[in-house]
Amino acid sequence: VRVIPDHPQEEHMTLPTDRDVSPFTPPSAITRLRETRPVSPLTFPDGHEGWLVTGYEAVRTLMADTRFSSRLDLDVVHVPYEIPGMPVATEPSPPMPGVFIAMDPPDHGRLRKRLTAAFTVKRMKSLEEHIARIVDRQLDHLATLAPPVDLVAEFALPVPSLVICALLGVPYEDRESFQANSAQFLVREQPLEDKMAALGALTGYLAQLVTRKRAEPSDDILSDLAAHEDLSVEELTGAAFLLLLAGHETTANMLALGTFALLEHPDQLAALRTDPDLMPGAVEELLRYLSIADIFYRYATEDIDLCGETIPRGSTVVVSLLAANHDPLRFDNAGELDVHRNARGHLSFGHGIHQCLGQQLARLEMRAGFDALFRRFPTLAMAVPANEVRLRTDMNIYGVHELPVTWS
Ligand code: HEM
Repeated sequence: VRVIPDHPQEEHMTLPTDRDVSPFTPPSAITRLRETRPVSPLTFPDGHEGWLVTGYEAVRTLMADTRFSSRLDLDVVHVPYEIPGMPVATEPSPPMPGVFIAMDPPDHGRLRKRLTAAFTVKRMKSLEEHIARIVDRQLDHLATLAPPVDLVAEFALPVPSLVICALLGVPYEDRESFQANSAQFLVREQPLEDKMAALGALTGYLAQLVTRKRAEPSDDILSDLAAHEDLSVEELTGAAFLLLLAGHETTANMLALGTFALLEHPDQLAALRTDPDLMPGAVEELLRYLSIADIFYRYATEDIDLCGETIPRGSTVVVSLLAANHDPLRFDNAGELDVHRNARGHLSFGHGIHQCLGQQLARLEMRAGFDALFRRFPTLAMAVPANEVRLRTDMNIYGVHELPVTWS
């Protein structure tokens, strides 16, 4: 039982995002707050007041409670931080059709159940074989390059992009432009006009693809979804776009930051190389330790008691999965990367009704990706000192902008 001290309201703080201790450690101010007040008032940069939840128990409880809404419509919710690289929204915007990550029951369930039905065991099995081929081919390509090379551009970004192409049944002849547009939209260092152009091209393309899958179904998830007449073309397009958004950058950053973390923890990498059976557990531990999808928002639809604090109706609540996953009350030596640890129960895929729909797929990608990368490149090493790696502290999804690597 944790005793929550009675703090005066003036102790509001702003959300610290700088990983000031190490690339793999939560900002020290977040850690201090989790220790003193895991459910705590927070002041947003514009002065608006909300809440920040950092303790494991509190985060898990909150994510299981649907009175905390996932709808972030601007007419009711104060969305405190701009999305990096996107224009600041000024008009209330209704949820985009099909994008059920930002919906509440019953709308959320109607769409989610159609998607879960399409992610069948058979389909996962065939994707597993496909993923192994994608990884191998990408590593064949890597082997033709002269090191140093950027592992993000040459491996970590293309692999999940090709997996999503398989998931959606993007025809081979369209893959190059699809991948180029996805990378342009997701990667930060692009002028806003270029990003918006890529977004327009992607959604336009997906709308066409969905229409085609409905008329001439093939053997892929999108065709299964399109067979449901109750889903509109707009909803199908939104759902396809959500799969792309949610499945590309996340997995890419896990692959790249995970490689960085393992190269920086040679004892852990050596243990993994000696005993490949450790891989599934190591992937869970990397998910926990790195928590690349860290910050999520919820909105209190009524006054809600959360671990002894009352969050008033109408509050915007910021959740830190990284802080929760590093909570020593839940994980011993939480700040250490330990591939032997049982990291189950981590919150890196969220919890509750929105828990990651693609988690099995993401696990397959990471296991196959790390396994083949370290097997094929036994001398893989960083090509620059660790402190020169540019970290994505400024992004929604944490990771590295580039990872220069070399081998002999
Ligand atoms: C939801 C993390 C990969 C599809 C989520 C959530 C998290 C998450 C934390 C919950 C969001 C919330 O509660 O608001 C991750 C991580 C990944 C990953 C860390 C990679 C390592 C994927 C992949 C796909 C995917 C590969 C699909 C291809 C989704 C979808 C949702 C979701 C559709 C929304 C689920 C819903 O609202 O019901 N993910 N994800 N994710 N993820 Fe993932």
